[in-house]
Amino acid sequence: MKNILIQLDTDSLPSTFDRVVAVDAGVDELFSYGNVSSDNVMGLVHGAMFTRGSKHLRHTAIFIGGSHVNDGEELLETVTATFFGPVSVSVMMDSNGSNTTAAAAVLSAGQHLDFTNISAAILGGTGPVGHRAAELLSARGANIRLYSRSKVRAESTCHQIKTNLPNARLEAAELKPSDELAAELEGTSLLIAAGAAGVGFLTENDLSKIMSLKVAVDLNAVPPTGLGGIGVMDKAAEKLNCLCYGAIGVGGLKMKIHKAAIEKLFLSNDQVFGTQEIFGIGEELLKA
Ligand SMILES: NC(=O)c1ccc[n+]([C@@H]2O[C@H](COP(=O)([O-])OP(=O)(O)OC[C@H]3O[C@@H](n4cnc5c(N)ncnc54)[C@H](OP(=O)(O)O)[C@@H]3O)[C@@H](O)[C@H]2O)c1
Repeated sequence: MKNILIQLDTDSLPSTFDRVVAVDAGVDELFSYGNVSSDNVMGLVHGAMFTRGSKHLRHTAIFIGGSHVNDGEELLETVTATFFGPVSVSVMMDSNGSNTTAAAAVLSAGQHLDFTNISAAILGGTGPVGHRAAELLSARGANIRLYSRSKVRAESTCHQIKTNLPNARLEAAELKPSDELAAELEGTSLLIAAGAAGVGFLTENDLSKIMSLKVAVDLNAVPPTGLGGIGVMDKAAEKLNCLCYGAIGVGGLKMKIHKAAIEKLFLSNDQVFGTQEIFGIGEELLKA
């Protein structure tokens, strides 16, 4: 039986990136829909649920994407609420690459660090990727300082994470100019820059002054990059007194995780791949 992936995109034009990965992951048929929202998704989900018998339901799966991560999350809730009993298909949510990117960033750092009780800082921590990286690190015992230009926004993100993970140790912090930020980050072992494309946080000189740093990850590929001195291709590059990863250095693992997750969707009809599950798939890949 053919494996069919139903791509539900909240943008008007379904993402070509997600379509290419689906093809590379070996799906036999890809049905792509744009402008999908909670208001119009039910019929599409029913079409997936009611066409194939229970034995064959695993051969149909849903991928939720689009550039607005909040819309994707809402869609995921509606899609999973539409299933009943054993009549479901597996679903993955990766709007704007948020889950796969956060997983790849944290897993890259995890090659060199045990996260239990370490001090980590996330710049641009209120965005979808930073938020998820904070969630993944919190679940693994790290102490996190989460930065935003607005302390209120940082507090709100910390609050959301603590709602799911009551034991998370998170502190909200306001972004500062590069030199002050570097001084404040002394004592931090892991730094992840997850700011918007083209946003620089620290100069190379200031970054190199943070003597406690063991791993620095910059997810912004658009010049100026988030962390001065880190090249987009860097992958465990030894420089600036620590191990450095750039956006493309992390991107290779992100692509592998995305592809592996699509492949796994077809193993059974009852899986929901969100942040933690996608991280788990990445962990398995690295162990293999
Ligand atoms: N390597 C990969 O494979 C890959 C894949 C996907 C995404 N990415 C990259 O990962 C990064 C994070 O993605 P995202 O979608 O989470 O980003 P985003 O939502 O566009 O931005 C993240 C945060 O950056 C902060 N920010 C925005 N403009 C700023 C400015 N001028 N100065 C300081 N801070 C600013 C905002 O926080 P506040 O407003 O609260 O300050 C925002 O919440 C992006 O650079 C993206 O391009 C990489």
